[in-house]
Amino acid sequence: MEISMVGTGYVGLVSGTCFAETGIIVTCVDVDNDKIDKLNKGIVPIYEPGLESMINRNVKKNRLYFTTRLEESLADAEAVFIAVGTPPDEDGSADLKYVLSVAREVGKHMNQYLVIVTKSTVPIGTAKKVKAAVQEELDKRGVNISFDVASNPEFLKEGAAIDDFLKPDRIVIGTESEKAVEVLRRLYKPFLLNNHPIVFMDIPSAEMTKYTANAMLATKISFMNDIANLCEIVGADITSVRKGIGSDSRIGYHFIYAGAGYGGSCFPKDVKALIKTSDQNNHSLEVLKAVEDVNDRQKVVLFNKINKHFNGDLKGKRIALWGLSFKPNTDDMREAPALVIIDKLIKAGAKVIGYDPVAINECKRRIGDKIEYTNEQYDAIKNVDALVLITEWSEFRVPKWKEMENLMKNKIIFDGRNIYDPSDMKKWGWTYYGIGR
Ligand SMILES: NC(=O)c1ccc[n+]([C@@H]2O[C@H](COP(=O)([O-])OP(=O)(O)OC[C@H]3O[C@@H](n4cnc5c(N)ncnc54)[C@H](O)[C@@H]3O)[C@@H](O)[C@H]2O)c1
Repeated sequence: MEISMVGTGYVGLVSGTCFAETGIIVTCVDVDNDKIDKLNKGIVPIYEPGLESMINRNVKKNRLYFTTRLEESLADAEAVFIAVGTPPDEDGSADLKYVLSVAREVGKHMNQYLVIVTKSTVPIGTAKKVKAAVQEELDKRGVNISFDVASNPEFLKEGAAIDDFLKPDRIVIGTESEKAVEVLRRLYKPFLLNNHPIVFMDIPSAEMTKYTANAMLATKISFMNDIANLCEIVGADITSVRKGIGSDSRIGYHFIYAGAGYGGSCFPKDVKALIKTSDQNNHSLEVLKAVEDVNDRQKVVLFNKINKHFNGDLKGKRIALWGLSFKPNTDDMREAPALVIIDKLIKAGAKVIGYDPVAINECKRRIGDKIEYTNEQYDAIKNVDALVLITEWSEFRVPKWKEMENLMKNKIIFDGRNIYDPSDMKKWGWTYYGIGR
């Protein structure tokens, strides 16, 4: 069985590689020459645990190919997946220009029946637009080739993407065609052997499922951040409250951590896009609008604490940041809370020194030398006025506190992820600020 995977980013590269792992022949396509060149040389352009060795293994077995030429990838394919970016347009809606451009290219080059699958997160009604774009190109060519469209939203998490793809909680497929169901069932069969469910539904419901999932997760985070801020005012500790509610199986422990706000390539843009879809349909998603407002405010909560501690005078203060990526185990910095804090600290006149286990190059690409970087966790805190923990990488969990006392100017820590124990910190003579405690 052969497939084409168009878009070789976090989703396309992981999905394509995992399909290849089951024996399927996969050609990954991207318009980015540099990315494809690197992949053809065995260099993986993103950081995702376990991905590099899996790519190399499948390339060696002649099951995984990389190209910039879409037509090559379609020659013997039964399905083509569209996994390109859907960034926010100026008005917050999802920009479909990349998705529809791939659809047109597929229409220009396909020569046999194909299932055309949207894996990108796309607004309700996109599959119809994809179908129309493909048909338009086939009509221009004057050929009569049948095809079906399907929506197959992706739920993998960066940092655990391979495991999520190989052992999915569920696979969601929206399609109206029995033939597409047959092809996609065959393709996904290897991932379902351990009773992971595949859920078939109509296309709009599949498209809506992805947005609803991300909106629900973002809601949990903003809700807990809102409660955390109230905890601080009334003298409660959000980490105790979290344990108290998480043990209720109706609530659960996932996604109820207070912190520096959600970021990443998905939640911010998907929340925005769903609000836009609802507005366009004369419906107002009030809960989700509040989720977004709370998150915008939460991204500055840490900065406000730092600013307040230094009485509004951050000029010349040296502030170390531990963690730059939007969450641990990824180099992705899209909408990362660290970027907001860096910007505010710099504008306030502070000198920022950043350390991250894998995201330093990505941070340099985004903001250049606006901050100083170190390749070692403890080098970042030399002679600083305060340390700010933004991303909860495992290596930050048990720091060498004694050594740190001698390196830092002041024993002040702003713990943006509540990973340290305030009573320990107090005992050891540190000034500690968490979120909601
Ligand atoms: N990143 C995640 O964790 C995640 C999870 C689930 C769903 N999604 C969704 O999946 C989609 C892709 O996300 P991503 O994070 O992989 O994006 P990404 O930016 O990492 O990758 C997108 C890739 O598409 C390529 N591309 C753009 N136009 C193209 C074209 N015409 N032909 C071929 N390639 C083209 C880009 O060069 C880029 O390499 C988005 O809709 C996103 O919302 C992302």
